[in-house]
Amino acid sequence: MTTRKYIVLGISLIVLAGGGMAIGAMLWETQALPPQPIAFNHRLHMERAQGIGCEDCHLFAPSQTYAGLPSKLLCFGCHDPHPDETDTEADARKPEFADLMAFVDADGDIPWHRVTAIRQDVFFSHRMHVTVAGLDCRACHAQIADSTRPPSRGPSHIPMATCIDCHEENGATADCVRCHR
Ligand code: HEC
Ligand code: HEC
Ligand code: HEC
Ligand code: HEC
Ligand code: HEC
Repeated sequence: MTTRKYIVLGISLIVLAGGGMAIGAMLWETQALPPQPIAFNHRLHMERAQGIGCEDCHLFAPSQTYAGLPSKLLCFGCHDPHPDETDTEADARKPEFADLMAFVDADGDIPWHRVTAIRQDVFFSHRMHVTVAGLDCRACHAQIADSTRPPSRGPSHIPMATCIDCHEENGATADCVRCHR
C-alpha cells in the first residue's frame, strides 16, 4: 500500500471513531440521575448567604485535586438544627428544610452523589487551576453556580476541546501525556 492509502485509511478510521464517540457522549449526558438527598439551591445561597464563596462548601478545591462536597455540619452552621422552643421562625420548623432536618439525628452524612465526571485515565487538578492558574470556578462550572436545583441529567463532563481551547488561549500545555496519564 502507498503512504497516501495509509493516510486515507487513517482519516476514515478517525471519522468512524469520532462518530462513535459523539453518540456515546450524547447518550451518556442524557442519562436521568437519581435525585440528590436535598434539592440544594446554588443560586439562592450565592445571593442570600452574605459573603459565602464556592470554596466555603467545596473546601478542598484550592489545595487538592478534588473539590469535595459539604458535610451536614457545615449546613447546620447556618441552619440551626435545635432552635429554641419559642423560635417559630427557625429554619428547622419550615417545610422547605424538612429534607435537611431529617439528617439532624441520622447516622452518617448526607449522601450527595457526584454529577461531574472525568475519565479515569485523564488527570485533573483543582489546585492547579484554582490556585496556580487563578481561575474562577465559573470558568468551568457556571451552569451549576447559577442553578436553582441540582442537575437532573448527567453525568456532566467537560469535553477535551474545552480543556484544549483554554490551554491554547493561556499558553498552557497541549501535550497528550500531561492530561492522559
Ligand atoms: C478548569 C476547569 C475547572 C475549574 C476552574 C474548577 N473546576 Fe471543579 N471540576 C472540574 C472538572 C473537570 C471536574 C471533574 C473532575 C473529576 O471527575 O475528577 C470538576 C469537579 C468538581 C466537583 C465534583 C466533586 C469533587 O470533589 O471534585 C466540585 C464540587 C467542583 N468541581 C467544584 C469546583 C469549585 C468550587 C471550583 C472553584 C473553587 C472549581 N470546581 C473550579 C473543572 C474545574
Ligand atoms: C453561610 C450560611 C449558609 C450555609 C452554610 C448553608 N445555608 Fe442554606 N440558606 C442560607 C440562606 C441565607 C438561605 C436563604 C434563606 C431565606 O432567604 O429565607 C438558605 C436557604 C436554604 C434552604 C431553603 C430554601 C430552599 O432552597 O428551598 C435550604 C433547603 C437550605 N438552605 C439548605 C442548605 C444545605 C443543604 C446546606 C449545606 C450543604 C446549607 N443550606 C448551607 C444560608 C446558608
Ligand atoms: C452552601 C454550600 C455550597 C456553596 C456555597 C456552593 N456549593 Fe456547590 N454544591 C453544594 C452541594 C450541597 C452540592 C451537591 C448537591 C447539588 O448537586 O446541588 C454541590 C454541588 C456542586 C457541583 C457538582 C459536584 C458534583 O460533581 O456532584 C459543582 C460543580 C459545584 N457545586 C460548584 C459550585 C460553585 C462553582 C460554587 C460557587 C459559585 C458553589 N458550588 C457553591 C453546596 C455548595
Ligand atoms: C478556563 C481555562 C482552562 C480549562 C477549561 C482547563 N484548563 Fe487546565 N490549565 C489551565 C491553565 C491556565 C493551566 C496552567 C497553570 C500554570 O501552570 O500556571 C492549566 C494546567 C493544567 C495541567 C497541568 C499541566 C502541566 O504542565 O502539568 C493539567 C494536567 C490540566 N491543566 C488539565 C486540564 C484538563 C484535563 C482540563 C479539562 C477537563 C483542563 N485542564 C481545562 C487552564 C484551563
Ligand atoms: C488539557 C488536557 C488534555 C490534553 C492536552 C489532551 N487531552 Fe485527550 N482528553 C481530555 C479529556 C478531559 C478527555 C475526556 C473527554 C470526555 O470525557 O468527553 C479526553 C479524551 C480523549 C480521547 C477520547 C477517548 C474516548 O474513548 O472517548 C482521545 C482519543 C484523546 N483524548 C486523545 C488525545 C491525544 C492524542 C492528545 C494529544 C494530541 C490529547 N488527547 C490531549 C483531555 C486532554
